[in-house]
Amino acid sequence: MSSTLEDVKPVPVTIGAARGGPDVRTLRRDAWWRFPAATVAFLTVIVTYLVWAIFQNAYYFVGTSQHRDLISPFYSPCIVGSCLPGAHGTFLVLHWWMWSPGLFVAVIPGGFRLTCYYYRKAYYRGFWQSPPACAVADGHVSYSGETRFPLVFQNLHRYFWFLVSPFAVILTIDAVMAFRLPGDGGVGVSLGTLVLVVNAALLWMYWASCHFCRHLCGGNVDKFSEHRLRHRLWKLLTPLNHRHMQLAWVSLFWVAFTDLYVRLVASGVIHDPKIF
Ligand code: FES
Repeated sequence: MSSTLEDVKPVPVTIGAARGGPDVRTLRRDAWWRFPAATVAFLTVIVTYLVWAIFQNAYYFVGTSQHRDLISPFYSPCIVGSCLPGAHGTFLVLHWWMWSPGLFVAVIPGGFRLTCYYYRKAYYRGFWQSPPACAVADGHVSYSGETRFPLVFQNLHRYFWFLVSPFAVILTIDAVMAFRLPGDGGVGVSLGTLVLVVNAALLWMYWASCHFCRHLCGGNVDKFSEHRLRHRLWKLLTPLNHRHMQLAWVSLFWVAFTDLYVRLVASGVIHDPKIF
């Protein structure tokens, strides 16, 4: 399997039809619509759940009374005045914020995913039909790219990458804290621990596979021979970068699943089983 772009052999491509033609939308005979349709279905379900969850302002923390230390990633770091006792941050609390902590937390990770180069491709194709697939006509007659309001804000992605980095650290701390089983042996592993550990690992992989991250490590370099460390980092990140699409979907699914798991345990619907 190829590991760098240099290894990829050119592949002859035949375009199926003219995009935007007046009569023929495409000459493609394959089920090109499946990917945009699946994108719309998946993102609609996940985003609806996410919005519902962050407005709940309840059942996002499993604490000492249930012998666990599990917090939903949608509500972490919980550093606002409305946080549940026990879920509070210890060194910084914004007492004036009395709405759902989820609304406070969602801005930066939400902005990071919204402006992600891969998600942009997916939702431009799925929701805006711009274009829905390769060699398929656009759903719109004009196209101004990302040069005007509001899409010009997509260029903030690189800054969101920096801003979201502390969140990856915080979710890692949450995963480590999930090994605490107060009153149930002190330290151990429950199913909830594993759920939070996988969530933190997926977020790190999604973050590290970001196209901007790869560019930061190996971009703007004329001679790799003069930048050994950057070349090594670039080689390390490139295989991960090839899987950015998969990591984007899996990490998004898992972060919602983690919230759902914590929510079900906190509300008493299910019990978090101890593994050892
Ligand atoms: S390109 Fe997807 S996270 Fe940066």
